[in-house]
Amino acid sequence: MNTFTQLESAVRSYGRSYPVVFDRAADSCLFDVDGRRYLDFLAGAGALNYGHNNSAITEALLDYIKRGGIAHGLDMQTQAKEEFLNALEQFILAPRDLRYRVQFTGPTGTNAVEAAFKIARKVTGRQNILAFTNGFHGVTLGALSATGNRHHRGGAGTALNAITRMPYDGYLGNTIDTSDLLIKMIEDPSSGIDLPAAVIVETVQGEGGLNVASTQWLQKIEQFCRQTGALLIIDDIQAGCGRTGEFFSFESMGIEPDIITLSKSLSGYGLPMAIVLISPQHDCWKPGEHNGTFRGNNHAFVTAAAALQKYWHNDDFAQEIRRKESLLTNRLDQLVTLFPHHITGQKGRGMMRGLAFRDGQMATDTSRRSFANGLVIETSGSHGEVVKCLCPLTISDEELNEGLDILASSISDVAISYAA
Ligand SMILES: Cc1ncc(COP(=O)(O)O)c(C=O)c1O
Repeated sequence: MNTFTQLESAVRSYGRSYPVVFDRAADSCLFDVDGRRYLDFLAGAGALNYGHNNSAITEALLDYIKRGGIAHGLDMQTQAKEEFLNALEQFILAPRDLRYRVQFTGPTGTNAVEAAFKIARKVTGRQNILAFTNGFHGVTLGALSATGNRHHRGGAGTALNAITRMPYDGYLGNTIDTSDLLIKMIEDPSSGIDLPAAVIVETVQGEGGLNVASTQWLQKIEQFCRQTGALLIIDDIQAGCGRTGEFFSFESMGIEPDIITLSKSLSGYGLPMAIVLISPQHDCWKPGEHNGTFRGNNHAFVTAAAALQKYWHNDDFAQEIRRKESLLTNRLDQLVTLFPHHITGQKGRGMMRGLAFRDGQMATDTSRRSFANGLVIETSGSHGEVVKCLCPLTISDEELNEGLDILASSISDVAISYAA
């Protein structure tokens, strides 16, 4: 029995997978209380794209705290919020010719999803929302309705309503275009599916196993939305903020969502923050209609603005992500070739990639073994069969290679133990 097993709720999960007490962190590394170093390929489940305690961002935050900048501001007008809004406009929205209003929600991804659903339902007067197999959108009741995972859904204790589940791109194999099925079922007035208020989709399913939607499929989903009056919600909470090699994961796809949800790495520092980007014509909120005490985490606004300023003022960072992506892809390909009996292939896009194991248990064992060898790495997918590399985007080539070396030797250890 330790403090955590004795005093913390049974709901704790990552603490079970990594049973040490962490103390410090720097860039791509975590350190436990005994000073042992771990490379971090989990990166706050995607909340630490710029690494732990990124020095430029730390400096901005310390300066702000030292000058007595407001920490908590409800949704009042503050200088920190103003600077964040201007940075988002200057470095992200304007250069991409995107026009959105920014809603600050409670500071979690799931609350941003709740807000997105409410807007879509208000705008259209419809209730039904189309969500996809293996989608993950959070665990508060509205968002949980759209989440596929049975384990999480089981925690609801009540009916999860007003969602229709459709097969994601590739769910029925390569030869069936699931967007055709979706379109057919909605066009048929007797299919039993109500016209949707919105379609919510991740371009890469982070928790669902790194499934990737193709450009063509997403374009058909967008076209379907335009034809039926449904709003297109892109949940970019995990795939956004540079993870796929561009700020928004859909940038190069020629689609324009009505609503975008962002959180996780938006604050750039692991501080809680979430926003919903709303096409101006759909911004139908009444003042305070969706509120929350912690919509004004000004420390997060400061770090978010600093991250946008540092990494997104030009294309260098995006190019650097794409360069690292090819390093990661090549190394993962080598592992697929080395372990064909255990690994079926690599999955994902950008720096959101992983290895699909034939057996979920072996993926879990590989993750546990990696931890014993000094690498924090998690699994995802229906059966936890995908070992997911989600390292900070700022990781050095040396550390990226070091982490992948640990992964390779851990797979080898586990394969040998299975063969014995
Ligand atoms: C795509 C996506 N949407 C929503 C969420 C929920 O975010 P949060 O855990 O901050 O509520 C997550 C979390 O993993 C996610 O990956």
